[in-house]
Amino acid sequence: MESAIEVRALGKRFGSAVVLDGLDFSVAPGEIFGLLGPNGAGKTTTINILTTLLRADTGTACVDGIDVRREPEQVRRRIAVSGQSAAVDTTLTGAENVRLLARLSALGRRETERRVRELLDRFGLASAAEKSVASYSGGMRRRLDLALSLIVPPRVLFLDEPTTGLDPVSRRELWEAIRVMADEGTTVLLTTQYLEEADRLADRVGVLDAGRAVAIGTPSELKARVGAGVRLRDADGTIVRTVPTDGSVAGIRAAIDQLDARAGGTIDLHEPTLDDVYEALLGHATRTAERIAA
Ligand SMILES: Nc1ncnc2c1ncn2[C@@H]1O[C@H](COP(=O)(O)OP(=O)(O)OP(=O)(O)O)[C@@H](O)[C@H]1O
Ligand SMILES: [Mg+2]
Repeated sequence: MESAIEVRALGKRFGSAVVLDGLDFSVAPGEIFGLLGPNGAGKTTTINILTTLLRADTGTACVDGIDVRREPEQVRRRIAVSGQSAAVDTTLTGAENVRLLARLSALGRRETERRVRELLDRFGLASAAEKSVASYSGGMRRRLDLALSLIVPPRVLFLDEPTTGLDPVSRRELWEAIRVMADEGTTVLLTTQYLEEADRLADRVGVLDAGRAVAIGTPSELKARVGAGVRLRDADGTIVRTVPTDGSVAGIRAAIDQLDARAGGTIDLHEPTLDDVYEALLGHATRTAERIAA
């Protein structure tokens, strides 16, 4: 089957700074693909090129089989971009927002009302439909923003850090909504700063570093390359030392043997964080939103 997104040897510079440096990846129809990578890796630049906001210098990119450089208009007709609630008008109610955009998208009156009910219902906003968006929480606004991007169902949906700044409950609700859309056949490309998000949501993940894909695979493949760390705590519970492992039984056993388990000390395993993944894949640690939030 033809890819929903096909990126080949994509290159982009800003002045003398090389931002994309021969980026390759493809996304299958209906797949949720997560782009991970430290700040400045080129995630937003990639989304901007795929959504025709920006032109690549070299290489090719196709969305739904259409070249973004040659036929940007055709690409725009097939995609939606959501993020940072830019489309949401806070002076209107949730229903008014959907209605306005549906009418602007040339839907008829009856079809508009059907979409208003259906979308607000799907994103858990039915009871807040007649309330002003000014009174919505951050999570509700983000869900409304997503609903607005789906008035005309897109073939491919682009989400740049969809849940940054949301609390864990709102984040999970948004994951659920994105998952439902993918199940209905929409291809999703999202960027994220959270390993947990990629883990829960993405079918496959690409890790970007300095404008290249340094690893592509399922979230479990990625985590398996990093493995759990064995942690030694002293009697007070303070972490004394962490030994990284490949996650295998032999690896964990060897790590425990390395630890000087003094009297009163306890040992536990900890799941790899995004920092661990970056450190293992990129060979350097990075400051990530996940660590800042932790
Ligand atoms: N319009 C521009 N002009 C000059 N430099 C730019 C421009 N847009 C992006 N850059 C630079 O390109 C690099 C990649 O930026 P990009 O926004 O794609 O990274 P990102 O992976 O989305 O990072 P973040 O995690 O911070 O969102 C950065 O060094 C950034 O400063
Ligand atoms: Mg970005």
